[in-house]
This record gives sequence, structure tokens and C-alpha cells, in this order.
Amino acid sequence: MKNKKIEEVKSVMEKDLKEHIDLKELEELRVKYLGKKGLITELNSEIKNIPNEEKKAFGMEVNNLRNTFNTYYEETKEKLELEVLNKKLEEEKIDITLPATKVKVGAPHILEKVIEEVEEVFLSMGYDVVDGPEIEEDKYNFEMLNIPKGHPARDAQDTFYIEGEEILLRSQTSPVQVRTMLKGEGKVPIRMICPGKTYRRDDDDASHSHQFMQIEGLVVDKNISLSDLKGTMDILFKRLFGKDVETRFRPSYYQFTEPSVEVDITCVNCHGKGCNVCKNTGWVTVVGAGVVHPNVLRMSGYDPKVWSGFAFGFGAERLAMMKYDINDIRVFYNTDLRETNTFDREDEE
Ligand code: DAH
Repeated sequence: MKNKKIEEVKSVMEKDLKEHIDLKELEELRVKYLGKKGLITELNSEIKNIPNEEKKAFGMEVNNLRNTFNTYYEETKEKLELEVLNKKLEEEKIDITLPATKVKVGAPHILEKVIEEVEEVFLSMGYDVVDGPEIEEDKYNFEMLNIPKGHPARDAQDTFYIEGEEILLRSQTSPVQVRTMLKGEGKVPIRMICPGKTYRRDDDDASHSHQFMQIEGLVVDKNISLSDLKGTMDILFKRLFGKDVETRFRPSYYQFTEPSVEVDITCVNCHGKGCNVCKNTGWVTVVGAGVVHPNVLRMSGYDPKVWSGFAFGFGAERLAMMKYDINDIRVFYNTDLRETNTFDREDEE
């Protein structure tokens, strides 16, 4: 026997459970049928008015209704949610024909560029580019370079000490000469350059910085002489500044070379005519160099009777300043990109 109430709900439901509906309407339907006062929920409370022998059939009918609704609800919900998602994806599609947002591309620091240029020159001549520690031992920074404790030459290279008197921030890249020879264990040839940070206890001004970059060089082999050094310096500066640039040697003094020289090049600002950059001499000093002192070779395991070598060291800032016409070394370290970028237009579009 059909129950009137159930038949009523059924016929309402038949009209309600339609295909074209949105998520909001679907939710309203859920409340209408299964909410606290929903039509199906209320059928449950009808059961007490049903004669006992019909209770079971009634219960089953209500369950059927609930299942019908639930199936409809789940399927429709899934279908509608998928539709919403697809619509969203459609709307958010990336239009690859739109002009891209401009990404600012960085450029190498001018100091880095100069160092790379120097590396290129030496790599093409068969040199290795090596590295050494910035925190160095007194032994390598001074002693094995023929500068024993108490030597007056140490005064000019006062630096920052990390622990006692033995561990310091290297005041020059020359200790890498020692490290390279020790590592070479007497083998030749050695041809290396080492660019790296160095430190001095200097007050910063236009031409001094407590931190700066040096490029060290060392060659050890048989019959290496001052003329090999001269040729090498000549090639380096012609490659960096052009064919007209000339080099000259002046006698100098370093503890780890004998003889020692200063290398001058013709002023790139006035081409040797004389200007305020070269103090009207036409020449600018750029490198300290010399023939490796026998003591230095010996201390690092190379017999000076068999082997000889030359070494050189120069400041990278100095070269960059000449190349880019900068007159204050602090420009390299003050991290104001507006200043260093002005020297580097060629890398920009
Ligand atoms: N290390 C020296 C300095 O800082 C520069 C130098 C001079 C390096 C002569 C050398 C050299 O290798 O042979 O003043």
C-alpha cells in the first residue's frame, strides 16, 4: 500500500532533481530534503504514526528516497565542481602572445670583468688559475716569502690578525706562490695566476682600501729569466689596453724576488704624452715583480741551482680604474650599483 506522504515527497522530488542546476541551488535542495526540517528527514518522524505491520515497508521507502537523493546529489556535485574548475582554468589560461614582464639581468662587476680578461690572457698562455685561502698563516704570508718575524717589510703590510700572531687575513696573494710550490712537490713547470682578495690595515681613501684584489703570478721551470717576465708583461698589457701600450722595468726591492722590478706601462689616458693620471710622466706603475729569490724556491722544495722562476703581483682595482677611468677605489666596494653600473653599459640592451 502506497503511503500518501511518501508519494507526495516523491513527486516533488521528481520535479526538483533536474539536470540544469548550479552549486547554490544544489545546496538548497540538500537542505530542502535532508536538512533538519527537510522533507525526507520529516518522513522519519512520520514513522510513529504508521501501523506496526507497515513500519518496515515505510522505512524502506524512505531509505530509497534518501538513496535516490544522495546519488543525485553526489553525481551532480562532482559534475558541477568539474565545470567550475574547467571554467576557471579556461579563464586563467596564459596568453603567451602577451609581452613578457622584463626581468632585470645582472652584469658582472667591473672588477670581476677585468679579472676575467686577465685570466683569459694567461689561460691562453697555458697558465692555471688557482685559488688560495683569504685567512692565511703567518708562515705562508711572510716567513716562507723570505720575510721573517721582525723584518721591517712587515710594517708596510700590516693586516688583520684573527688568532694571536699566526693567523691573519692575507696582506698579499704571494703566499699562494708558496702553497703552489709545496703542492707541486718539486715538479715543473709551474705556471699559475691567482686572483684573490687581500687585506691591509689601511685607512680608506681615494687610493687605499682595507680590502682589495690582487692577481699573483708564478712561473717555475728551467732557465727562466727576467726577459721571460718582460715578454709576459708586454703581452698582458698589449692584450688588455691595445698594441701601442709599452712596458718598462724599473729596479725595485721585494724580499721574495731578486732582482726585483716595478713594471710601468705607458699611460692609457694620455698615451704617454703626460697628464694628471700619470703625473705628467707618461708612465704608470702597475706591477711588482721579479725573479724568484733562491731562498723562496729552497724553502718550498725547489732546488735553486736547478730551477728558476719569475713572479709578479698587481692590484686588479688599479687596472679597472685605468680601464674605466675611475678615480676613487671606494667605488668598487660601496655597493652602490648606480655607480658601478655606469661603467658597464655595453652589457645592457
Ligand atoms: N706581493 C707584493 C705586494 O703586495 C706584490 C708582488 C711583488 C708580488 C713582487 C710578486 C712579486 O709576486 O714578485 O706588494
